[in-house]
Amino acid sequence: MVEVAIIGGSGVYDPRLMSDLREESVETQFGTAHVTIGTFQDNPVVFMQRHGQGHTLPPHKINYRANIMALKQLGVKDVIATSAVGSLNRAMHPGDLVLLDQFMDFTKQRPFTFYDGEGGEVVHTDFTEPYCPGLRELLLACAQSKGVRLHPTGTYVCTEGPRYESPAEVRAYGLLGGDVVGMTNVPEVVLAKEAKLRYAVVAMVTNYGAGISPQPLSHQEVLDVMAHNGESIRTLLMEALGRLLGGGH
Ligand code: HPA
Repeated sequence: MVEVAIIGGSGVYDPRLMSDLREESVETQFGTAHVTIGTFQDNPVVFMQRHGQGHTLPPHKINYRANIMALKQLGVKDVIATSAVGSLNRAMHPGDLVLLDQFMDFTKQRPFTFYDGEGGEVVHTDFTEPYCPGLRELLLACAQSKGVRLHPTGTYVCTEGPRYESPAEVRAYGLLGGDVVGMTNVPEVVLAKEAKLRYAVVAMVTNYGAGISPQPLSHQEVLDVMAHNGESIRTLLMEALGRLLGGGH
């Protein structure tokens, strides 16, 4: 059994956190998911690349259901996900980390639930706390003890992508209360909760939303900011893994 998983988004592909890495394919009823299983302080940890090996899947083509079901089948209980985001909030700057506590869903056409009504089961899941409060608390404590700066709350707006937003959309999402915008947290957060996984997200701001920043956005800019600031996420993840695996949770 592997109880802890890291889901890496754009720019967090480096599973250097772990040793004895082995790749595995996990068959689920929704398709195949690929994971890397490694060892961290004598415990197995799963690392999953959200966009597939080598970032080959755009956000709307990711098989989120296979990904989350694979983690469940492996016995995972705790998931810490990372995600690159644009900022809608002028107090959140490129390079900043944000511990998400709320989300809004503006996706359009993705399979987004495990409860499709098959088998006659209609399930409405409570989303008062979309992200696990216990894991969020643990990550806040880790950030504090390691001196990693982290915005303790943030509302994530999920768009369909793969295009970036128009400046009018960025203004509108900000007015609605969004802090950051990305293309992948829905349905990942939804499925994780439906699957009863403890799930939290550390988002890294890679750019200001379109129109806040005068330059056009590029995926390269996102990758560059992740590369330059990846150390703070790695420090946080290593501390969190240590505490989760050491029973400090
Ligand atoms: N918009 C949507 N997704 C993103 C952005 C953005 O500005 N930056 C990184 N992922």
